[in-house]
Amino acid sequence: MIPLSAFYRSSIGKKILVAVTGLILIGFVVGHLLGNLQIFLGQDWVNSYAEHLRALGPFLWIIRIFLLLTVIIHIYVTIRLTIDNRRARPVRYAEKSYSKATFASRYMWLSGLVVLGFIIYHIAHFTLRVADPRFGLLKADPLNRYDVYSMMVFGFQNIIVSAFYIIAMFLLTLHLAHGTSSFLQSIGLNDKKMTPRLARAGRVFAWLIFIGYVSIPVAVLLRLVQPAQRL
Ligand code: HEM
Repeated sequence: MIPLSAFYRSSIGKKILVAVTGLILIGFVVGHLLGNLQIFLGQDWVNSYAEHLRALGPFLWIIRIFLLLTVIIHIYVTIRLTIDNRRARPVRYAEKSYSKATFASRYMWLSGLVVLGFIIYHIAHFTLRVADPRFGLLKADPLNRYDVYSMMVFGFQNIIVSAFYIIAMFLLTLHLAHGTSSFLQSIGLNDKKMTPRLARAGRVFAWLIFIGYVSIPVAVLLRLVQPAQRL
């Protein structure tokens, strides 16, 4: 048995931690998307979904804290890995070769940081509801629940907000698409046939996530989804 500290100190141990925390976060991204897509089923669906989540009470807080710790570990271990790599190669290559590095891999850091910035804004926007003064004016829905449905529609009617969401989703997609290749490398899967296939499947999956999320602000901007009340 490898002791836990030796596992963490090894480069492969850190890579596995990044991969496992990444997988947990992907699970959240998929679950959250399925919840949000209910906007296409109407006000009652979305509002009762939000109400069910809130009814989880303390358990919801356990999930939130678990997710927050997962994000922190994902970022912290990534930083450690980068520092370790730099230490292992203190002299930079004289000539950088970008032939193999893809756009996504070079911008993994940037995409990760923008996604983090997005999550902070997004929580202020839709969870704390402090980014848009109109959300405080919303009336309860016919079943006396907070009208999350109309909040989302009013939120995305602002083209600048929608554009920011779409850009953040695009960067999240690049991050996820490249994350799959990194994950395959971490677990040492080097099969000539399987590895490229799995990497492609990862990219397709990431773009499906993109289409799913972006369909929401786009549908609101095209007025295909309307608010259920007036302000
Ligand atoms: C079109 C895209 C999205 C929509 C419409 C959306 C919608 C929402 C809504 C309505 C809430 C508040 C739920 C409530 O308090 O009742 C929320 C919370 C949240 N969203 Fe999103 N979301 C989107 C994209 C994302 C993405 C891409 C991520 C992560 C990468 C994300 C992460 C979160 C987190 C962490 C929370 C806080 C959850 C909590 O406080 O329990 N969202 N989202």
